Amino acid sequence: MVGLTIKEKLKYGIGAIGSLPFVSPVIFDRTVRQFLTKVPGSHFLYGDGWNRLHPFDRVNGTNTSGSVSAADLRARCSHPANAHTNLYGGSQPSVVRRALATLPQLETCCFVDLGCGKGRPLIVASEFPFRKIVGVELSEDLAEVARTNAAVISERHPERTPIQVEVGDAAAYPIPAGDVVLFLYHSFGTELVAKVELAIRAALAAESRRLYVVSYNPVNGACFDESPVLIRRFARMLSYSREERGYGPDLSDAVVIWQGGSTPPPTELADAKIIIVTPGSRAEVTP
Ligand SMILES: C[S@@+](CC[C@H](N)C(=O)[O-])C[C@H]1O[C@@H](n2cnc3c(N)ncnc32)[C@H](O)[C@@H]1O
Repeated sequence: MVGLTIKEKLKYGIGAIGSLPFVSPVIFDRTVRQFLTKVPGSHFLYGDGWNRLHPFDRVNGTNTSGSVSAADLRARCSHPANAHTNLYGGSQPSVVRRALATLPQLETCCFVDLGCGKGRPLIVASEFPFRKIVGVELSEDLAEVARTNAAVISERHPERTPIQVEVGDAAAYPIPAGDVVLFLYHSFGTELVAKVELAIRAALAAESRRLYVVSYNPVNGACFDESPVLIRRFARMLSYSREERGYGPDLSDAVVIWQGGSTPPPTELADAKIIIVTPGSRAEVTP
């Protein structure tokens, strides 16, 4: 705490109280949170989870922690798609891992993260036997960090599928041929998600294949629910693992998975309703 201002000491002190094991389940309760967010300064209680060094980075020697506001992303990039960007903040690895573990026969699938940021889901994907792993990111700065992370992982785990990172608008990225898993962590607004849905229709019309859409925080999930070529296969709130608590803004996140093409019918009913908890920013699904 040496060198910190009184405000910073207060902020980190309150944040530390918020992450105590007997405090966090109470303050993250939806009703309590809705009440507390009206109290000035209460956001310190929730800590600035994204900006703490995530245990995932400590284990892997990578840099996926931190957050970048949408305004800062826009200021550093002139691409027109930037008008629709959301902030950078990493998804929780345990949540991504559990979502991917529900998918069959990954050996034939290409994993694509549409808006890969610093590449956390790409690294989680490399734990699975995907035939190819690609991240598409609009921000050159974040893509560069993702590439460095990919190099760290490839050095540490030469047996894993290599990670490729491309700079560009993910909504305009051509969906690769063959079986594919499209991952999306609330990267951009409805207009671009609708564009992705149209690309999925074209991709399924062009070729017989298995296609999955894994939407983490499905704020724009309605675009996929309304798609004539996709059906739901999974919809749940997934809790952060114990060591991840305090390293993101919540304690659990919603994941909805759709499937299309020559995919066998889903084995579970996945009709949970998507609820927009904070418009434009957070979705949950009914239990
Ligand atoms: C919430 S972050 C998610 C990062 C990563 N997928 C994860 O789960 O850790 C969303 C990312 O999407 C990127 N993004 C926003 N619009 C984009 C676009 N049109 N094309 C590519 N990336 C985009 C942002 O720069 C940001 O890094």
